[in-house]
Amino acid sequence: MRKPCMVANWKMHKTVEESVDFAHQLIGKISESANSDIVIAPPFTSLYPVAEVLRESAIHLSAQNLHWDEKGAYTGEVSAVMLVDVGCKYVIIGHSERRALFNESDGDINRKIKIALKFNLRPIFCIGETLDERESGKTFAVIQKQLKDGLIDLASDDIRQIIIAYEPVWAIGTGRTATPNQAGEVHSFIRNMITEIHGTDVSGKTMILYGGSVNPDNIADLMSQPDIDGALVGGASLDVEKFIKVVKF
Ligand code: PGA
Repeated sequence: MRKPCMVANWKMHKTVEESVDFAHQLIGKISESANSDIVIAPPFTSLYPVAEVLRESAIHLSAQNLHWDEKGAYTGEVSAVMLVDVGCKYVIIGHSERRALFNESDGDINRKIKIALKFNLRPIFCIGETLDERESGKTFAVIQKQLKDGLIDLASDDIRQIIIAYEPVWAIGTGRTATPNQAGEVHSFIRNMITEIHGTDVSGKTMILYGGSVNPDNIADLMSQPDIDGALVGGASLDVEKFIKVVKF
């Protein structure tokens, strides 16, 4: 059985004070028995103070990005070791905003996944097609390529650590969610691809999250799809009440 997992991706939002306040409120309102694993991904500047708040809780911390090398002359970058040092257990890799605005290639993403795994950070590996690609019938080809190239040279034991997030680019921040069927068929396609390469034992345990305008009103329908195991939540995760509703779908 895959336990649902809900990830809050705050993107470039929240000061330290706002982040810490959110973390306190979340802990206060989520009981130990929450039926979902919860991960929050604050901006870099808030990671350490939020880690301090979450220390005794069951809520996990994620970064939103990392560099693909261990260390070196990379002004402005942050390494896997630094993320582990401040308490991260997860890292989002290959978000469509990073692909589109910061020119991240499938090759860069593959290197980032490898360095994350080397330092025991669980990658939350994002893939998804643009509106043009969907409308021209290329969705499955795009997903197949991103998945294949992002996961090059990874063994089945590595795949077990990876969380995949399917985020159609046209649904991110637009209020236009994929229908449960649209999302469900891509999730099934992804799981089948993992089965073909790594077998059912690995694919049956692989977490596949949906992301793109998830909110308290659409989460239950999305979660009713058998291959949707949770959500990567942007806008709705900035408001603690909304995020809790998503978590408790
Ligand atoms: P959204 O963002 O929920 O605001 O659409 C999701 C994401 O980009 O991860």
